[in-house]
Amino acid sequence: MKMATVVGARPQFIKAAPVSRVLRQTHQEILIHTGQHYDPNMSEIFFAELHIPRPDYNLGVGSGRHGEQTGAILKAVEEVLIQERPDALLVYGDTNSTLAGALAAAKLHIPVIHIEAGLRSFNRSMPEEINRVLADHISSLLLCPTTAAVQNLAQEGITAGVYRNGDVMYDAFLYNRELSRTHSTVLKRVGLKPKAYFLCTIHRAENTDEPARLKEILTALGQIQVPILLPLHPRTHKTIREQRLEGLIGSRVRILDPVGYLDMIALEAGAAKILTDSGGVQKEAYFAEVPCITLREETEWTETVATGWNRLAGAKAEAILQALHEAEPQAQHPGIFGQGDAAEAFVRILDAWARNG
Ligand code: UD1
Ligand code: UDP
Repeated sequence: MKMATVVGARPQFIKAAPVSRVLRQTHQEILIHTGQHYDPNMSEIFFAELHIPRPDYNLGVGSGRHGEQTGAILKAVEEVLIQERPDALLVYGDTNSTLAGALAAAKLHIPVIHIEAGLRSFNRSMPEEINRVLADHISSLLLCPTTAAVQNLAQEGITAGVYRNGDVMYDAFLYNRELSRTHSTVLKRVGLKPKAYFLCTIHRAENTDEPARLKEILTALGQIQVPILLPLHPRTHKTIREQRLEGLIGSRVRILDPVGYLDMIALEAGAAKILTDSGGVQKEAYFAEVPCITLREETEWTETVATGWNRLAGAKAEAILQALHEAEPQAQHPGIFGQGDAAEAFVRILDAWARNG
């Protein structure tokens, strides 16, 4: 088949890496980078480290308001699709790039394939929830990482073309873990020993656009007696600067620029505990068997909570500190994200789907 793939944001580069590797063994792939993320440490570094093929198109859309950004991607992807006429369009996850790519294809009657379909937070104030619900409803082939995701789709009446293939982020994690062990020098650079620090990431709109929530989170971090590494998304950096919140961050919190994936795996595996509002980092905490505190009221990755490895703390300082105190490694660690062969499973499903028209 001639496939076109739309990626645009950091987690999508990581998801695309294992899938492109397998897909290209038997299919043609046109890779379209929307340019939603563009800083070298938010984009280029992942293409280089993970050997992701060079994009055939870089749409250079950049940042903007939701309508502005989504509209610009929609227009630019449509032009590429008209020119390339792929047999299907592949999208990942829940970003504005995902929705715009899916919509452009659906309007041109190009079947949409959604990897990481069926995830729900049931919180429609999140931009990601709108993006993923709409993308799922215009997809022909829906690849679900978990059983809960399959059930979520069934509740919305989507049962045709739905498959559980496992989580491609687990494939990426397993593939790169050893490389990270041998190549990453990040712990040496920051001068910390494994299990002697906590790792934190913050970037969700709900936590960065509402200074009151960000203040509470930073206040909690400032009270923790263990060194904390905070590789910071540019969006959060900007809010901290604009709102002059630096004073809340205690001396034990070390802000880093965003790091590459191999360094990130090393930081995750070496952390005693992880605090995050990221979807991907919640899962990677589980893969690495590190207790996680989620700085949100709900999660799409409910299995990580059900197994006791993840705690929902929201954004109140007291609740965060309490959850941190309670978070401990669990005796059981069931394989809820598949076997690390989700990309292969996807391509088998794709082949069968293509054969059956
Ligand atoms: C986006 C996704 C989110 C995902 C995240 C992964 C949407 C609506 N949100 O959020 O689901 O979890 O990516 O990281 O699609 N910026 C830079 N340099 C960059 C990219 C962004 O400085 O390379 C800054 C800009 O100020 C920009 C802001 O970050 O306005 C937000 O970027 P944007 O892509 O709109 O959303 P994310 O917060 O990255
Ligand atoms: N990540 C990274 N460097 C960082 C922060 C995150 O490589 O400084 C990786 C992380 O390991 C995970 C992915 O980016 O694979 C998660 O992306 P992000 O948190 O931006 O978005 P989300 O998963 O919440 O959509």
